Amino acid sequence: MTKIQWLSSFDTGISSIDKDHHDLIEAISGVQAALDVDDLESATGLFENFLNMARSHFAREEAFLKKIYFPRIEAHSVAHRELLVMGESIVAQTKNNMDGPQAKKHLEDMVYFLLEDIIKADADFKSYAQEHGAQ
Ligand SMILES: [Fe+2]
Ligand SMILES: [Fe+2]
Repeated sequence: MTKIQWLSSFDTGISSIDKDHHDLIEAISGVQAALDVDDLESATGLFENFLNMARSHFAREEAFLKKIYFPRIEAHSVAHRELLVMGESIVAQTKNNMDGPQAKKHLEDMVYFLLEDIIKADADFKSYAQEHGAQ
């Protein structure tokens, strides 16, 4: 499985948000490590932790976007909610089917899809935030 790498394009320039994103990547590395040894049960538990971290991160990020009056905050917050719903459905599906390489592959694919979306979607506010309140 491809190891997720931090790309400089992920950096938003807002240190608290970048720190959260690094922590999320770190958490996904744990999920990956469990998947690499075919421990789907641990991987699912770690993925649930990751989702909780993402939930807290989204709340912090939305508070920051509100503070700087980011004009697309509504759409960005909706996207956050959708990612959480998707994440929860991945957990439910994986718990329903803990066996076989297909379940592993599915979790692997979805986890990366979700992580990419979580971080890449933030490109939407990057330049605005840098002009209006980078910390
Ligand atoms: Fe974010
Ligand atoms: Fe975001």
